[in-house]
Amino acid sequence: MAKGQDTGEEGVGGGRSFYITTPIYYVNDVPHIGHAYTTLSCDVLARFKRLDGFDVHFLTGTDEHGQKVEKASQVAGMTPQDFVDKVSANFRDLVAAMNASNDDFIRTTETRHTEACQALWRELAARGEIYLGSYSGWYAVRDEAYYAESELIDGPAGKKLAPTGAEVEWVEEPSYFFKLSAWQDRLLAYYEANPDFIGPDSRRNEVVSFVKGGLLDLSVSRTSFNWGVPVPDDPAHVMYVWIDALTNYITAAGYPDTDSALYRRFWPADLHMIGKDIIRFHAVYWPAFLMAAGLEPPKRVYAHGWWTNEGQKISKSLGNIIDPYDLFARYGLDQTRYFLMREVPFGNDGDFSPRAIANRINGDLANDLGNLAQRVLSMIGKNCGAAVPQRGPFSPEDEALLSSAHGLLDAARPLFDSQAFHKALETIWAVIGDANRYVDAQAPWTLRKTDPDRMATVLYALAETIRHLAILIQPFMPESCAKLLDQLAVEEGARGFADLGANGALRPGTALPKPEGVFPRYVEEEGGEG
Ligand code: MSP
Repeated sequence: MAKGQDTGEEGVGGGRSFYITTPIYYVNDVPHIGHAYTTLSCDVLARFKRLDGFDVHFLTGTDEHGQKVEKASQVAGMTPQDFVDKVSANFRDLVAAMNASNDDFIRTTETRHTEACQALWRELAARGEIYLGSYSGWYAVRDEAYYAESELIDGPAGKKLAPTGAEVEWVEEPSYFFKLSAWQDRLLAYYEANPDFIGPDSRRNEVVSFVKGGLLDLSVSRTSFNWGVPVPDDPAHVMYVWIDALTNYITAAGYPDTDSALYRRFWPADLHMIGKDIIRFHAVYWPAFLMAAGLEPPKRVYAHGWWTNEGQKISKSLGNIIDPYDLFARYGLDQTRYFLMREVPFGNDGDFSPRAIANRINGDLANDLGNLAQRVLSMIGKNCGAAVPQRGPFSPEDEALLSSAHGLLDAARPLFDSQAFHKALETIWAVIGDANRYVDAQAPWTLRKTDPDRMATVLYALAETIRHLAILIQPFMPESCAKLLDQLAVEEGARGFADLGANGALRPGTALPKPEGVFPRYVEEEGGEG
């Protein structure tokens, strides 16, 4: 069923399409680094795919129904609607502040979404996949999840807790059920036939063994509160927030209009990016709902790890929430984006510390990339008439450097397609290392006196290498790379991956603007903890 994995496919209207989504964020809380991280990883991949010629649809948004949000609105002393309007705007602002390139922002309180949820429900009911019963069991509002007695763990004072540590409450109410138990074999067959459906592999194994352990029918409606999408023809029930939330991915693709250009072009989604805590919902319930409704499951679900703050779990009660706006203000937006994608192997958990980010900024950015660009551009400015140097024949050393730059895209593609963002950066930085060693070995400052023509060729090879680096680093640090490309006088329309290689090579004699440093060193503030 999963077609075109990794490479995209010809969609409606020609060209290759790529549909990528973030989870939709609960509006019970202020946005923090964890939310920014998921969105950032999607933005990086969306930008990469656009540069690689794909027609990208990048979706993010907010999850606004359910008991957890309703309770948060009560605590805030607001109506649920006023509350979700306010908090959803905070998430929308964060998306803009982090320079995310999303094409749509969905809110589950929108009419288009209510309609999609109700259409999906009707389809499931018409196919006999939903039945009315009654639920009695444990529910954790924090996780918006049901738990079996056997899953609970012992908390302080003999209290039972969810395996995530969330408080549970006993719920007994009439409820509709989705026949999840009937999907066990078909889900296992789907995982088997689509080995790339769940990444990383450790998560895939976890999901497969969970499903092999047997599935119970899933309660999909609630009657004890009403902040949700009403169940069609039975308004005493609202839909379970997860069936509502997951549906956002098809709402934004035009569902229920499965003949629409949007749906035909972008569904099934190429990638649902999520955190590891919500893998079960995305890799078990969601494909089961879709298959049961006769729709195609997404092509891939990737679960990244969690950030801790200097070794501690990040939580509001511990008062150690990392505010993404603070990071952008202190370290710079692109610097923060780079750090988050480079520091931790994507898929693993990671630890934030001021020292770690300062090291990355001063080492990888200021010393390695920043110095390379600054040295080369200022030598060109001073010694080559502030224009792209006139080059002579390339030596084997020049060819070696250029061929490692030319080979970067082919090396990076499979890494992006497997969400190994840290490895993509490592691969790019290996060429930065090559370029810095090449500058030292060629010593253009000496050639200036002994062989100015050779100096011009060396500086040309370096400028061309920097052009490749800047084009490839754009997904991670779009603003800084735009500055680098401006300094190389690369036109805005010539910054895609089709412009890599000899075709888009810098033209000798092109006038260059005055070079300016793009990656300043991070200097600890007086009395600051940076
Ligand atoms: N509303 C659901 C998702 C519904 S998708 C159909 C939800 N929302 S959430 O706001 O609680 O979490 C959204 C994302 O933020 C999740 O992917 C979660 O893993 C991520 N993170 C929350 N805290 C995090 C860290 N400390 N570190 C990394 N990511 C974390 O779940």
